[in-house]
Amino acid sequence: MNRPLEGAGGGPPASVIAGIGAYVPPNPVTNHDLSLRLDTSDEWIRSRTGISSRHMVLPGQATSDLAVEAGRRALESAGPEHAEGVDAVVLATTTPDRACPATAPEVAWRLGLGTVAAFDVSAVCSGFLYGLATATGLITAGTADRVLLIAADAFTTLVDPRDRSTAVIFADGAGAVVLRAGRPDEPGAVGPVVLGSDGSLAGLLEVPGGGSRQRASGEPARPGDEFLRMAGRDTYRHAVERMADASRRAVKAAGCGLADIDRLAAHQANARILTTVAEHLGIPEDRRLSNIDRNGNTVAASIPLLLADSATDGSLTAGHRVLLTAFGAGLAWGAATVQWPDVKPG
Ligand code: UT7
Repeated sequence: MNRPLEGAGGGPPASVIAGIGAYVPPNPVTNHDLSLRLDTSDEWIRSRTGISSRHMVLPGQATSDLAVEAGRRALESAGPEHAEGVDAVVLATTTPDRACPATAPEVAWRLGLGTVAAFDVSAVCSGFLYGLATATGLITAGTADRVLLIAADAFTTLVDPRDRSTAVIFADGAGAVVLRAGRPDEPGAVGPVVLGSDGSLAGLLEVPGGGSRQRASGEPARPGDEFLRMAGRDTYRHAVERMADASRRAVKAAGCGLADIDRLAAHQANARILTTVAEHLGIPEDRRLSNIDRNGNTVAASIPLLLADSATDGSLTAGHRVLLTAFGAGLAWGAATVQWPDVKPG
């Protein structure tokens, strides 16, 4: 165990990013491909969402398959010094392989991590930030020294392929980070994570069938209830308000100002939402990270995929103070800051 006994000023250790990796299924699906089976067009999708193409799971490919690949890459990125000491796996997902049990234990086992603690966190598009808070809690409480946090969703399996308002947005993928115990003042240290929820608006984005509510009714699921329903316009409005507000609070909690933010890594929900959130926060265009054009909305995976892609293409570099923020079904939202460490995506 290399655990520092305490963080700065005698407090608990911080959680520090030590590695990152991401994975998307092969074979991008273009807007043109979708327009062959849906009443939509490349022009509509590009102008309303900013998406040109996305990746979808292959037949037979499940969330654990995406998670294992992203997790393996993050472990490679962290190197043996940290990878061999991983003692917990947190998987943020809303599309577990099965309703029971959680998918994380199988992912940990397939990654060769033995009998480490492993569990799922379900917070839909805010899954990475909820997972980050959970993993950080494990580290600061002394339950774990190194946590592999994976955010993975095969969300297209919940989307009605005939629903043009959701089928053009959602996509599949996975991103992962290795977190280790460290000092709050070192690069990669995760700042305070701000989280929130509003269950009174759960109906704005929901999959009505398949859960205990429907099963306990004694009635079979109604046709279509196995698919996502989204009130797009209302969701859009709440997304902007909640991400902007959570961002302000996370920046304040970290003891800095919005002018100190070098990069904004917001959940890739819709390019217009991202622009509006950044404008509300006064973050100029050259400080906004985005990969929505080629990945669409990958739900929990969105932020770590964006961080990995941006670190790979050089738009995010060591020393940047990056603001993370997400919003989605629940409703649930969150934000945090990280000073980006010197890590090479695996
Ligand atoms: O991941 C976090 C949670 N999700 C979000 O944050 C998503 C938030 N919402 C959105 O991104 C947008 O609301 C959408 C992209 C889903 C929709 O864009 P919009 O500009 O809000 O369009 P709308 O729903 O108001 O629909 C406008 C029109 C409608 O036609 P009419 O009624 O005006 O004739 C829709 O039927 O656009 C139509 N439409 C489409 N047309 C072509 C909806 N989807 C499509 C489509 N292609 N794919």
